[in-house]
Amino acid sequence: MLTTKHISDVTLAQMLLARGELVAIPTETVYGLAANALNAEAVARIFEVKNRPTFDPLIVHTYSIEALERHAHSIPAEAYKLAEAFMPGSLTLLLPKRAHIPDIVTAGLPTVGLRIPNHALALELLHGIDFPLAAPSANPFGYISPTTAQHVRAQLGEAIPLVLDGGACVVGVESTIVGFPEGEPTIMRFGGISVEAIEKVLGRQVKTMTHSSSNPAAPGMLASHYAPRKPFYVTSTGNLPTFLQKFLAQYAPERIGVLALRGGLPALPTDCQVLLSTEGNLNEAAQKLFGAMRQLDALDVDVIIAEYVPQEGLGRAINDRLKRASLTLET
Ligand code: TXA
Ligand code: MG
Repeated sequence: MLTTKHISDVTLAQMLLARGELVAIPTETVYGLAANALNAEAVARIFEVKNRPTFDPLIVHTYSIEALERHAHSIPAEAYKLAEAFMPGSLTLLLPKRAHIPDIVTAGLPTVGLRIPNHALALELLHGIDFPLAAPSANPFGYISPTTAQHVRAQLGEAIPLVLDGGACVVGVESTIVGFPEGEPTIMRFGGISVEAIEKVLGRQVKTMTHSSSNPAAPGMLASHYAPRKPFYVTSTGNLPTFLQKFLAQYAPERIGVLALRGGLPALPTDCQVLLSTEGNLNEAAQKLFGAMRQLDALDVDVIIAEYVPQEGLGRAINDRLKRASLTLET
């Protein structure tokens, strides 16, 4: 007698990953392009599929704080404090790596980025495998990170056997990266956990080192990244109406796309304008940011103009991504 067995997508993902294939996985921040982090050949495929330079290290995903100790050593007390407060969550800790983490994962660096995603499907997946997952954002290198399974399919669908669909990412910007150079907690990338929240847990101010545009060890910090294909320009909060005038000298109103927090531009058609949060809520704005950038990139416009949001809470991560997506206006 014939029986049909249906295996779940999570089980399929586990099987594919175990035999060295790539699977796109949901997390609460953005979708990741995952491979067995302990399989250097599988990890090499990530770089190939993303067209990512191999000097750009990958974040390793695991499911418990105990698992952090399996992959890192000499973990500072303040790292534990942050792990207890924000893991699972949108935080990546850079910690001294153990020898079994292949060099290709860390681009030869002595530290490894470790993170526990706060997403039920991702955690279920991680629980059922006996290896951690290396996963960068599942976008071609330099382009906008994906926040839905559809975003991933549109760009990498052909190249990978499975996109595990976990719905739209609820945080919407990548994890906050914290390293400990000389033992000092230092924010290396603004992301889904705010600086305010980190400082509250540590009870002190933390340094930030997010603008080393020449640092090849961390291209997520490179000046140009997360960028749409259309020319993208950004101006200060509230300056959009004035900024628009420069573009109206060169473009017809319907050729200009707008990305704003809450206030659109009455001089332009509404269907070329995307508002991130009519309430001005920065968490909602972060959640919608990358989808909005993709939406505008797909519109029949010639240029996209945007405005920075208040530099607080997730506003720092939003502004960081807007800045890296943007060109500088020659005046
Ligand atoms: O939210 C996230 O972090 C997402 C999801 C999929 O987990 N991942 C993500 O990965 O954003 P990716 O590869 O797009 O960005 C990771 C950044 C890169 O800029 C990389 O340079 C930095 O993390 N990074 C990773 N390991 C590092 C290390 N050992 N030292 C310094 N920077 C590191
Ligand atoms: Mg990325």
